[in-house]
Amino acid sequence: MNTSTTAGEKKMYKVKIRTEQKTYPVYLGQKALDSTGQLISAILPPCTALVVSDKNVAAHYGEKCLKSLRDKSFEPFLEVLEGGEKEKSLSSAAALYSRALEAGMDRSSVIIALGGGVIGDLAGFVAATYLRGVPYVQLPTTLLAMVDSSVGGKVAVNHPLGKNLIGAFYQPTLVVADGSTLHTLPEREFNAGLAELIKYGIIWDKKLFERLELSLSNNKNTTPKKHFLEMNCSRLLKHIVSAVIIKGKIVSQDEREKDLRRILNFGHTFGHALEAGTGFHYYLHGEAVACGMAMAARLAALLGILDPLFVQRIIALLKCLHVPPPPLELNRDTVIEALFYDKKKEGKELVFILPVSLGKTTVCKTPPAPLIERVIEEYLGGELI
Ligand code: NAD
Ligand code: GLY
Repeated sequence: MNTSTTAGEKKMYKVKIRTEQKTYPVYLGQKALDSTGQLISAILPPCTALVVSDKNVAAHYGEKCLKSLRDKSFEPFLEVLEGGEKEKSLSSAAALYSRALEAGMDRSSVIIALGGGVIGDLAGFVAATYLRGVPYVQLPTTLLAMVDSSVGGKVAVNHPLGKNLIGAFYQPTLVVADGSTLHTLPEREFNAGLAELIKYGIIWDKKLFERLELSLSNNKNTTPKKHFLEMNCSRLLKHIVSAVIIKGKIVSQDEREKDLRRILNFGHTFGHALEAGTGFHYYLHGEAVACGMAMAARLAALLGILDPLFVQRIIALLKCLHVPPPPLELNRDTVIEALFYDKKKEGKELVFILPVSLGKTTVCKTPPAPLIERVIEEYLGGELI
């Protein structure tokens, strides 16, 4: 990582992501959005820029982004979508292709994703496929998008039969994360993003886990969002930088998720079953992952591969996120069915990424069913998170 400072502004961090497909910088700073035009112009010549956003994000940051681009002679136009998971569809993509064609966009044009993971995944998918690929820039505005989805090049839309089934590995040209945009992010979304940040601590970086413990477990009188944004903005930015560095290391070794990158799916096997078992309406993605991480840690303890003391610490930290309790109508059989539906669909074994200590994981294929059932029952009984 190298850090740089823009004139008169706060510190800007720069992390280089190196993959076989592309090497690109991720800039992180407070007010980084103001420098969007400048940062893109260092990489691309002035051109037509399709800025994709959703209505919440565009209302706060659309104009700022357009101004910054115009100041550097880009010709931007903004497409504002309703937002929400339903936007990750082939029909939303088709509408964006039409807008790009109407605007005469060619391979020297750029697509810019201004928003959370939904906008990033969709705009990235359109960029990967429009004219067989045009450059795209990620401007993540949720914590989840800053620490995870904007980096690494997974772009996708959903299919009626499942999430993210139509997609590509297509790396962005540049990522610019502005920490100050998190002030307007709803508290629940903030906590869901924190779950993904905690994930890096558990799978890779014990020190990050301990720093998050210090920040969150010792500050029970305030919410995580208030704690970080009102008192410890610079600390949060450093945590986000740590996450991006870790993701960069993982993705540079295994861009296409053949092996190492699978550890980023820690918490996702149970988490995805909870999302699917509740019709994708009850939990935010990060909340389901938080539950899934608690369940995976407990499963690891039951298998005897993780010290129960670590399970307690993991669960204590995840509890700071105030994830909604398991819905009353959810039962064990529904969760099990959702777990095994995935397995059938992919024609693969049921795979769990399990922690063996803080910062280390192992891959566990098809653990004993009675243990899986016990963990699900503990979760449903409110004993875990
Ligand atoms: P999201 O994009 O839906 O954003 C969450 C909500 O916050 C939306 O209502 C949005 O309008 C609002 N919002 C965003 N930024 C805001 C801001 N700064 N101020 C006010 N409101 C703001 O959700 P998300 O959690 O960012 O992303 C979830 C998506 O990301 C899922 O589709 C998931 O599959 C995908 N994802 C992708 C990857 C990847 O590697 N590509 C990784 C993880 C998740
Ligand atoms: N979000 C998981 C990955 O990028 O692989």
